[in-house]
Amino acid sequence: MNHSTPSSRVDATGDFLQGLTKFRKFGKKTRVKSINGITYFANQFWTPRQRQGHRLQEVSYRGCFKPQLPAFFIERLTRPGDVVYDPFMGRGTTPVEAALKGRIPYGNDINPLSRALTEPRIHPPTLAQIEVRLAEIPWDEFVDIEHEELLAFYHPVTLSRLEGLRTWLLSRIDAGLDDPVDRWIRMVAVTRLTGHSARFFSGYTLPPNQATTLDGQRKINARKNLTPPEKDVRAILEWKSKKFLSQGAPKPDDALLLTGAAEKTLQIPDAAVTLTVTSPPFLDVVNYESDNWLRCWFLGIDPKTVNISQYRGIKEWQPFIKKTLAELARVTRPGGHVAFEVGEVKYGKIRLEEHVVAATEGLPFATLGVMIVRHEFTKTSQCWGIANNSGGTNSNRVVLLQKKG
Ligand SMILES: C[S@@+](CC[C@H](N)C(=O)[O-])C[C@H]1O[C@@H](n2cnc3c(N)ncnc32)[C@H](O)[C@@H]1O
Repeated sequence: MNHSTPSSRVDATGDFLQGLTKFRKFGKKTRVKSINGITYFANQFWTPRQRQGHRLQEVSYRGCFKPQLPAFFIERLTRPGDVVYDPFMGRGTTPVEAALKGRIPYGNDINPLSRALTEPRIHPPTLAQIEVRLAEIPWDEFVDIEHEELLAFYHPVTLSRLEGLRTWLLSRIDAGLDDPVDRWIRMVAVTRLTGHSARFFSGYTLPPNQATTLDGQRKINARKNLTPPEKDVRAILEWKSKKFLSQGAPKPDDALLLTGAAEKTLQIPDAAVTLTVTSPPFLDVVNYESDNWLRCWFLGIDPKTVNISQYRGIKEWQPFIKKTLAELARVTRPGGHVAFEVGEVKYGKIRLEEHVVAATEGLPFATLGVMIVRHEFTKTSQCWGIANNSGGTNSNRVVLLQKKG
């Protein structure tokens, strides 16, 4: 249900821009500057401290943004009952935040991994249901190891449990028995596959959002003289489920999560969306396929069948962005907004935001400005949310568009 009219959205936009100009919450004044005809608003509009995010958002994903980013726009540009969408949802930061704030979450990603990570966090089962299911799983029957190569990551007992769980969950899908509790357990397992600390299934390895290759892992083991210690798969699943659900859960009236190309989302009706908060794949900064190979293995997804868009140059990237924006123009209601985050690539040498603004030409969007959100770097911020990688992404740059109407 929508509680506002398109004309009140136009007023909200005026308020929003004024709010940006006057923003001083963290002590600094917003700097406003016009460059090449685009108005920039620079400030620390939200802080990168992990603790401010809801526990359900604590899923690692390469190139994700922090929940504070969609929260900023959802709170200011939508009302309860409005549809909030992300066509490149990744770990689902935008739809999960929308659901937590009483909005209707819509999301899409070309990788089925995204829906597997997002859907259970939007419609979580209760802890009691999860505990009953964990007790029903025949752990003691899981003794065989098929993928011996994965012993580079896991102790033999851990690997047998993990493989057994994987096969058991996949067989329940085949038998039509798969339900929200299975999907929750599968999602939690995927978030625990690899990582540094005791509460991951693997031995010491790279951070959880970036699985290394088998060879890479063998080298880490040899360099550190390590063999993976035994981990209790069931106890870790229970611990992480409790953690996820410790601050309550969303109860959205409705939700729509798709797996497909952002440029073609036929299931979304025209003018259904009030706000989109999104971040597309940037040039070749992040390789989602190689980062997620182990997660895809666990889910039974062949990453080679997933057509993840990767563009090395602006010349190929911009037409892809234009097609995506044309689709967003179709699904956005008049007066609705798109917050399009492009990060900072190649140490700021390429201003992706200018290419996004250029891609709106001929589309029914007005460019309201570009927000530059600078963060003080802390260890936590590097781990949870700001895409921080070899390409040097170190600030959020958000192009703000409004659908004309
Ligand atoms: C920068 S990430 C988005 C991360 C997300 N904002 C989050 O917080 O997790 C870009 C996402 O785009 C997805 N992707 C790549 N090409 C796509 C396409 N053509 N259509 C839809 N999704 C695509 C990737 O799988 C990846 O999850």
